[in-house]
Amino acid sequence: MRILWRPFEFSRRLLKVKSCSITESEFLIPLAWTSLTQKLRKASDISLPGQRKRSSTMPEIETNERDSELFSPPSDVRGMTKLDRTAFKKTVTIPVLKVKKEIVNKLMRSLKRAALQRPGIKRVIEDPDDEENRLIMLDPYKMFTHDSFEKAELSILTQLNVKPQISKYNLELTYENFKSEEILKAVLPEGQDVTSGFSRVGHIAHLNLRDHQLPFKHLIGQVMIDKNPGITSVVNKINNIDNTYRNFQMEVLSGEENMMTKVRENNYTYEFDFSKVYWNPRLSTEHSRITEILKPGDVLFDVFAGVGPFAIPAAKKNCTVFANDLNPESHKWLLHNCKLNKVDQKVKVFNLDGKEFLQGPVKEELTQQLGLSKERKHSVHIVMNLPAKAIEFLSAFKSLLEGQPCSRELLPIVHCYSFSKDADPAEDVRQRAGAVLGISLEACSSVHLVRNVAPNKEMLCITFQIPTAILYKNQTMNLEHHEDPPVKRQRTDEAFSEEKTQIASNT
Ligand SMILES: C[S@@+](CC[C@H](N)C(=O)[O-])C[C@H]1O[C@@H](n2cnc3c(N)ncnc32)[C@H](O)[C@@H]1O
Repeated sequence: MRILWRPFEFSRRLLKVKSCSITESEFLIPLAWTSLTQKLRKASDISLPGQRKRSSTMPEIETNERDSELFSPPSDVRGMTKLDRTAFKKTVTIPVLKVKKEIVNKLMRSLKRAALQRPGIKRVIEDPDDEENRLIMLDPYKMFTHDSFEKAELSILTQLNVKPQISKYNLELTYENFKSEEILKAVLPEGQDVTSGFSRVGHIAHLNLRDHQLPFKHLIGQVMIDKNPGITSVVNKINNIDNTYRNFQMEVLSGEENMMTKVRENNYTYEFDFSKVYWNPRLSTEHSRITEILKPGDVLFDVFAGVGPFAIPAAKKNCTVFANDLNPESHKWLLHNCKLNKVDQKVKVFNLDGKEFLQGPVKEELTQQLGLSKERKHSVHIVMNLPAKAIEFLSAFKSLLEGQPCSRELLPIVHCYSFSKDADPAEDVRQRAGAVLGISLEACSSVHLVRNVAPNKEMLCITFQIPTAILYKNQTMNLEHHEDPPVKRQRTDEAFSEEKTQIASNT
């Protein structure tokens, strides 16, 4: 799964029409509408009633453009830093068609083009002057006079004995009727970017606000809570993740201070305190990609396990799992999540530095597992997801094991993550990993692009089998002829460039 730069969601609450009265029932082009039509004339290449031929179809204006014209909050909310919902009240004039209530359903099917299309606003409302009638709200950007109806629409109106006479209706819009993007666009300085991406972690929306948005941070937080059902807390990242445990320093902008949360990822449940551990919903695809590679019976060593998003699915797949994290909070929640997902019998959990884990429990288990190589059919995988540093930890594999080497197909497969800002990120990661091991990984590794982290910064995963000469003491193997790589390089690079294009277009 990828969480993308996603505009704030539109409130799913339904609009309540607060005041409604027909103010005129003659054919119209009232003054307010004249100014609107003038704007429209400027805004697009649109013909106006009376100027176009009856048979022509009125070109449509982009939805966003249309909404920003009429359905935007009042201009005096600009600069508001403390949210005052009452200041968002506004009355707009909407064209309506008065019809008998019995024919509404029949008619609506034929008036799809002409009807008002605005989420949250009812298209059919009661006529306050006559309970036998209904008012069909029409699109104020298309429908001006009877002349705005198309031939087919006029024909159905005639069949149903409805006069194609358009009236005006005063509709009161309130805070509830505006999308969060519209609210923030109206409040923040004109022309400034308001579409903030956010990651959702359970009930928490996690923002990364830019400088010009900071004076409005509490208002932005409140609007996000109002407009996104299920979000009850909004936090802003206040540093880059550069601390050891990779958790964010964050400020609660609005809503609950409680950072204890529960998330679902790939059908597993994780609970943790988001202020104390690492969790990134943008890694769910990567977690499932690795899980897919594993086969029942395989052994997984998860060196930087966090709260368990590789370890738990692997254990559910009947792999034997050894999961480790240095952060005592991650360790605590990892244990908890293993129980929560009923895999605590299949996961051995450690709270060690990655290097100690590799040189201690991993070495011990590998010695045992690979020593049984004649009977073994299963693979051993080592996942190292600490992209800023994991490559350095590869040195722990050098001469880790002693004695008679296992057969080559049983050598452990490493999946090591790294960031790269290089113009050729795959090559950069291959070279850096190879340099730590003292070998060339050119012909015997694959590199997978995980995600684009920032402009010119990629997260990648390099996968390779640890060569015998590296893993075992006193081995002299010609590393240049380390044959039969797990994935051939050529395929990898093609796949990489495809993935890169795909991910870039998704980001
Ligand atoms: C990027 S997170 C990955 C967590 C998890 N694997 C995931 O995919 O969500 C890296 C994890 O490594 C842990 N960590 C950082 N330094 C470590 C070290 N030296 N040894 C072991 N774990 C470490 C952090 O606490 C964090 O949970």
